[in-house]
Amino acid sequence: MGRGRAHGGLTVTGFSDHGRDGGESPPTALFAAGDISRRIESLAGDIARAMGPEFVLLCVLNGAFIFTADLARALAARGCRPRIEFASFKSYGSATESSGRVRLVGEFPGNLSGERVLLVDDILDTGRTLLTARMMVEDAGAETVATCVLLDKPARREAPVEADYVGFAIDDVFVVGYGIDYAEKFRYLPDLAHISG
Ligand code: IMP
Ligand code: MG
Repeated sequence: MGRGRAHGGLTVTGFSDHGRDGGESPPTALFAAGDISRRIESLAGDIARAMGPEFVLLCVLNGAFIFTADLARALAARGCRPRIEFASFKSYGSATESSGRVRLVGEFPGNLSGERVLLVDDILDTGRTLLTARMMVEDAGAETVATCVLLDKPARREAPVEADYVGFAIDDVFVVGYGIDYAEKFRYLPDLAHISG
């Protein structure tokens, strides 16, 4: 097997059969690395205009680590100098379904009081994670909180929350790659792909 697999005219770059344990189907390409990077350039323009040079970029771990890294550099190219912070949340449940309980794992960043915060997550799904994170930022005394997600699954929403900046709105499919995992696998894929179980 080569380094990529062709699916519907796109290739899931970097995928090999090594990832194919557990019996699930191989990932099918959804957005190629070039599509993601073009979308991030455009988002960064919108965010830089709205946020100005100084703000706090708060990355929701683990899934948003690659998105935040690329977004931060696209923002820097537009003159932004954000302080970058991290917070980790876990929603307990199976590999593909959350149980509805979202918990902070480890420390929450200090010094958010009076700051303008941009919260960055990988996927807005039921909305519980983003809502929990946003409430914690508000409780920490932030002056304003804006939210940015790479992917939005509006059909899945259960909590009353929307993102201010959305990379791509998608159907109810399970996504991997570009930092996003299925049972800790596939985060390394440069493209966004979906798996069908
Ligand atoms: P929510 O709390 O239901 O909105 O879920 C948000 C979190 O669930 C995201 O930050 C992801 O970590 C995870 N998640 C939701 N959908 C997917 C998916 O399709 N693939 C991988 N993780 C997902
Ligand atoms: Mg996540």
